[in-house]
Amino acid sequence: MGKFPKDFLWGASTSAYQIEGAINQGGKVPSIMDKFDEQASYPKGITGFKIASDHYNHWKEDVALMAEMGFKSYRFSISWPRIIKNVQGDINEEGIKFYDDLIDELLKNKIEPVVTIFHFDTPDFIQEVGGACTNEFTNLFEHYSEVLFKKFGKKVKYWLTINELNMFALAGQVIGVVPSDKKVNPWQLMHHLNVAQAKSIRKFREICPNGKIGPAPNISSVYSNTNKPEDYTAKLNMDIVRNWVYLDIVCRGEYSSFFMNGLKKMGLEIETTKEELEILKNSKPDFIAFNYYATMTAQMPEKQKAENVKKDQQSGLTIPGFGEAVKNDKLQKTQFGWEIDPVGFRNTLREVYDRYNLPIMITENGIGAKDVLEKNAEIHDDYRIDYYQKHIQQMGLAIEDGVEMIGYMPWSAIDLVSTHEGISKRYGFVYVNRDEFDLKDMKRIKKDSFYWYKDVIKTNGEKI
Ligand code: BG6
Repeated sequence: MGKFPKDFLWGASTSAYQIEGAINQGGKVPSIMDKFDEQASYPKGITGFKIASDHYNHWKEDVALMAEMGFKSYRFSISWPRIIKNVQGDINEEGIKFYDDLIDELLKNKIEPVVTIFHFDTPDFIQEVGGACTNEFTNLFEHYSEVLFKKFGKKVKYWLTINELNMFALAGQVIGVVPSDKKVNPWQLMHHLNVAQAKSIRKFREICPNGKIGPAPNISSVYSNTNKPEDYTAKLNMDIVRNWVYLDIVCRGEYSSFFMNGLKKMGLEIETTKEELEILKNSKPDFIAFNYYATMTAQMPEKQKAENVKKDQQSGLTIPGFGEAVKNDKLQKTQFGWEIDPVGFRNTLREVYDRYNLPIMITENGIGAKDVLEKNAEIHDDYRIDYYQKHIQQMGLAIEDGVEMIGYMPWSAIDLVSTHEGISKRYGFVYVNRDEFDLKDMKRIKKDSFYWYKDVIKTNGEKI
């Protein structure tokens, strides 16, 4: 096709708490994710994050596999609780060394590090003082960002602020970032995260004038379920609360009047200060990164049934007063019930680019599946190849349409633990040989998709 730019960043993604394990090694302090599986709300019969893929002790081998696949970039998150020891902000030098070595190894292999500053793993010492529900969170985040920019800013060009800031507000309790026993106004929480992000970007401009920084929400086009005008209003509402509010605030520097009026109607108004609004006005990003899994279909919630709807980052995202997410019968689903919509990917890319006119980087996209390790140590994940083939094809069409793209880093580089569905929901190009509770030998095994993706990268997507 010849559509992808020469220096296109082909790679893949992970996040610290889902891949590293080693929760008590290297001076790391506890995080809310270490004990998420011990909470009553955590689904039964699946593993938590204490061991994960033990990447902390396998990182060199893992980077070698990425290099073998020909990665041009690798998006990973830095673990806040490995870097900062307490509310006073003391630094854990062992944690710094871990990421310094990782970054050096990536650069040695000509892999561009793309760093997420914060991916869900709030340190316990911050959660204990109220977590993201407080103003103080914004200062603690600013300090943590500053430490990272000073330590790694010379080596890392691309930075992402907060992974899926929108999911803190929309599915916070399901993914464990909001305590399940707490009643919080999700929009106030979102506001604090937005301010934290803005303060971090402000610091970045001071310390890393040559670097690039962007947000990384989870974005998807929203369809109207029918041609009923009321359903279209629901679609517009959901567009705002599912997608635009988080990008408007960082790219345009303000909350839209539709959003603020909607909150007022529902009695969920947020408190903001003059100083915060000023900071929010001046924190424009250099690019937009976003995670895409599937689209959303919405209707006006008049006929809403309170049946057992699965709710997480991609499904059941009904937002009272705004709209109800419903199933799309035109789309197939993964084994875990997430819809598959490659054409929706092209449309989402177009919508985001048309609205903000900033270059786009895809920081997640992928299929969670119960991969089978065959007796001959092979994994035939043709469904994953099919998923990627179709999504990359549509990304190519979006580029032809005129979308400016920097890179594609699907989820995930190697197998890791899902946010709330265990290790059996596998995403990687590399299989990690462990089960939910049987740790086996943690061997890394290349899946069929490993060889397929290697070829995609080598040919710069030409054969797709
Ligand atoms: C995104 C998150 O929501 O989706 C990742 O940024 C997550 O952390 C990914 O793992 C896939 O979701 P899940 O719930 O299947 O792990």
